[in-house]
Amino acid sequence: MMIKKSFAPGRFFCPLPLYIIGTNNENGTPNFATVTWMASNWNGKPHIMVGLGAARQARHNVMRDGVFSLSLVSKDLVWLADHLGSAIGHDIYPDVEYAIGFGDEIQVPTIEDSPMVFECRVSRTFDMDGDAKAFIGDIENIQLAADVQDMHPREGLDLLALDPVLFAPDRYYGIGEDLGPCDGWSDHIEELRKLDPRHP
Ligand SMILES: Cc1cc2nc3c(=O)[nH]c(=O)nc-3n(C[C@H](O)[C@H](O)[C@H](O)COP(=O)(O)O)c2cc1C
Repeated sequence: MMIKKSFAPGRFFCPLPLYIIGTNNENGTPNFATVTWMASNWNGKPHIMVGLGAARQARHNVMRDGVFSLSLVSKDLVWLADHLGSAIGHDIYPDVEYAIGFGDEIQVPTIEDSPMVFECRVSRTFDMDGDAKAFIGDIENIQLAADVQDMHPREGLDLLALDPVLFAPDRYYGIGEDLGPCDGWSDHIEELRKLDPRHP
């Protein structure tokens, strides 16, 4: 038996993904903010949900334009993401240099050095308690870096090559081990049975 203890609901959810949301400010300059409160859904086509708090310039921009990009935070971008996660409303970041890219299908700024970028158009908006809003974006285009382009969803995205940062409030983590394919459970049980024929 695994002994557990109950806790009041809190910021416990993990692992969380880490992305940088890219939007256009009203004067045309790019805005970037770090996001982790997000989820994806597949119903024949992909969608992404992003939760944005009231004071975010990114949120004003998404509400005005209905578009945003999401650039995956790979390990080498972790401190840029950390910085953008506390630089409220600024459109220039004098102490951290980074290259800005652009959407191919949607006019949104992206993080040039991110290996995977989603270009999204808002299809639904939900009002949440605490003056937060959740946006559902339909993914209209995906940009993949050349060195991970051979990854095919059927063969499995190579997460080790993408080298994403995961977040567990309030620390950043990398990943280091490929545990095997989805639907690999029967092979795994075979392996256990080879080691011990009594294994159920
Ligand atoms: C690790 C991390 C994760 C964050 N996740 C979110 C998030 O999911 N939603 C949100 O509204 N703010 C989130 N923030 C805070 C925003 O990134 C931060 O307030 C940012 O400066 C907003 O910039 P803006 O005002 O230019 O949009 C996060 C910050 C950090 C450091």
